[in-house]
Amino acid sequence: MNILQRLFRFDHDLTTYKVQFARELMTSLLSMAWFVEARDPYTGGHLWRVSRYSRLLAEVAGLDETETARVSLGGFLHDLGKVGVPDAILRKTAPLTDEEYEVIKTHPDLGLRMLANHPLASLVKDAVGLHHERPDGKGYPLGLTNLDIPLDARIVGICDAFDAMTSHRPYRQGMHLNKALDNLERGAWQQFDAILVKQFVALGLAGELNHIMGHSDDNIPLDTCPMCGPTLVIQRTHQEGQHIFCRNCTGGFTLVKKEGQLRADPLGIKGSAADLEPSLDTDLILRLLESTIQHLPINDLFGDAQPTPGILLND
Ligand SMILES: [Fe+2]
Ligand SMILES: [Fe+2]
Repeated sequence: MNILQRLFRFDHDLTTYKVQFARELMTSLLSMAWFVEARDPYTGGHLWRVSRYSRLLAEVAGLDETETARVSLGGFLHDLGKVGVPDAILRKTAPLTDEEYEVIKTHPDLGLRMLANHPLASLVKDAVGLHHERPDGKGYPLGLTNLDIPLDARIVGICDAFDAMTSHRPYRQGMHLNKALDNLERGAWQQFDAILVKQFVALGLAGELNHIMGHSDDNIPLDTCPMCGPTLVIQRTHQEGQHIFCRNCTGGFTLVKKEGQLRADPLGIKGSAADLEPSLDTDLILRLLESTIQHLPINDLFGDAQPTPGILLND
């Protein structure tokens, strides 16, 4: 008897249990990815943006609701393996050396190893493990070419690169939309799937990416720490007057409303260890979960585990 047969007792609705089980497993994966992102003060909102861009690109590429849900989860989870990249490299404020870049290149494979044997791994393993592959075979970790790169990975790869180009880094400003779209077009065939790039560029030119670019949630523009430069992520549940802290320089801010948006105003105080703890954006994670879970192939994920009459949980 396997664990699902133990969990799904005969006197309960099997499908309800499976959905609840999937919901809890996915929430924990998304939360872990969020905490991994929180290690890097410069990449606030990257996972949300890549997830949202990936959803849009999947839709215009004609994917169905199940595939689109899977791609948007893959977009959020794609950098899970960055948990293995040391702070000294992740938070480095200068361009990386070749040796440091080799360390960065381990993150897709580490992400896959983290997902090994996870019941939901099949949904997101292509996005996590293969989002840095390139059609010309010069990507990593496997050097796959063209259509051997799974569709989810090709979609997330484009969205990831676009977000990297348009986000500020300590050593350079983020690119303007048109320049980043030009770069994507220049990388078509070699670095990116040419058909998907064309569709993504069309989205960009139509203004469909503007509400995601430079944002960390719907209607929440990114703020930056005026003292040291990294992103300050304001959450949907934050209130005017609430304090937030820069996890890089520890500076404190109060949230004030300016032109209808909450913005961070320096307080001139330093945060305590408790103030600087990352506070999980459960609201954002639950919204992502709710928009995807209903479309996931739950029964396929958990195989054909059937309840067995009379089985007790402690059998
Ligand atoms: Fe990555
Ligand atoms: Fe990324």
